[in-house]
Amino acid sequence: MACILAPSLLSADFLNLNRDLEMINRSEADWLHLDVMDGVFVPNISFGFPVIEQVNKVCKKPLDVHLMVVEPQKFISMVKACGAYQMNVHYEACLHLHRTVWNIRETGMKAAVTLNPHTPVELLEDILCDLDMVLLMSVNPGFGGQQFIRQSLEKVKRLKAMILRKGLTTLIEVDGGVNLTTGKLLIEAGADVLVAGSSVFGADDPEDMISRMKQL
Ligand code: DX5
Ligand code: ZN
Repeated sequence: MACILAPSLLSADFLNLNRDLEMINRSEADWLHLDVMDGVFVPNISFGFPVIEQVNKVCKKPLDVHLMVVEPQKFISMVKACGAYQMNVHYEACLHLHRTVWNIRETGMKAAVTLNPHTPVELLEDILCDLDMVLLMSVNPGFGGQQFIRQSLEKVKRLKAMILRKGLTTLIEVDGGVNLTTGKLLIEAGADVLVAGSSVFGADDPEDMISRMKQL
């Protein structure tokens, strides 16, 4: 079965966002991934809700919003108001993760928990059944275009085994350094959703790259 592909807007041309969003609409991409960074949780600042709201007016694909911010629970209603399909919060940023996950679900959005590269998947043992998706970071969050961390493959395998053992249907998404080579390895390891920024938007023909990644 083909993976779910979520190109990451972070690598798009911000001076030609409309053009890049039209390309996403025409393409075989399944979702659009949006990275919100606050300069505190990660050492970078990206874009915020006013931008996502405008993107939602043009983009026909479901919006997968990845919050790299401290206290993400403060922004649930704002993410919902932007038209997001799914909200990803970092495990490392949530003191009361169970409450946050349920507050997200109550809005009707899908709830996903993101793990930094150093955070073991085993920490999700007691909350996995409440999640629609787990997002495994395969780079340290904050920047596009970084090198894929190989140990992520083992994490995907361990998480897949946990999901199967519990009889769940939780999706596994992987974000960071995903290209045709690492994407293939990730799918073999058990990933369901691939996020791809620079490998898509940096390609000579991004639409063709999306179809090639969908064929992995
Ligand atoms: C990184 C972001 C990613 C980023 C991935 O912190 O979460 O979504 O856009 O970029 P690439 O695919 O270039 O590694
Ligand atoms: Zn991301």
